[in-house]
Amino acid sequence: MSFNVAVDGPAGAGKSTIARAVAREMNLIYVDTGAMYRAMALFMLKEKVALDDRAGIAEKCRQADITIRYEDGEQVVVLNGENVNAFLRTEEVGNAASAVSPVPEVREKLVELQKQLAAQSDCIMDGRDIGTCVLPAAQLKIYLTASSAVRAKRRYDELAAKGEACDLQKIQADIEERDYRDMHREMSPLKQAEDAVLVDTSDMSVDQVISRIIGLCRERFG
Ligand code: DC
Repeated sequence: MSFNVAVDGPAGAGKSTIARAVAREMNLIYVDTGAMYRAMALFMLKEKVALDDRAGIAEKCRQADITIRYEDGEQVVVLNGENVNAFLRTEEVGNAASAVSPVPEVREKLVELQKQLAAQSDCIMDGRDIGTCVLPAAQLKIYLTASSAVRAKRRYDELAAKGEACDLQKIQADIEERDYRDMHREMSPLKQAEDAVLVDTSDMSVDQVISRIIGLCRERFG
């Protein structure tokens, strides 16, 4: 049986940074499920499907073939044969992903892929519904969070480092709006699984969070 770690939490809590580092240290594959929803959102933007047209999204998502592969340990998302990693991490695509991800047909398709990946390999998978829906039997579940002000500042610093113009207040407003949508949607809303360990990173450094989670992995897996 494969060894699975589920990491859930709101946007900007540091899930991907932490999961990537823990994967390296513990020799696990890192599966970034947000990137899969982002790839689906990118497809809808390219195809000019309106983001409030649920029936249109449900229909169109059948034409999106999304797979992942690994290059030098990095997850590469392939959308209809094309490596789309470079287009996924913009605010536009993130907001579109939040609109596309509540559609049941989209979730069914991507959750199936995620379950297959976890069954095949020891992995740490991050997202919103990993501990609650995708991997309910994961040996370790973490709910990673931080205040919205702290998360907005982190996103701001990330974008500023890439030279992208941005506005801190707008980022915080977007994050709060996205949290609300992710937590209140009908299908697989973001919430802490009952057996998840809560880690609030508002006042923790990245290294402190990584050590804490590696500690938890060692406790569970020896
Ligand atoms: O983690 P992220 O910002 O890359 O995720 C983008 C969007 O995808 C986010 O608004 C919620 C959605 N998502 C989801 O619904 N379920 C997941 N397992 C991962 C992401």
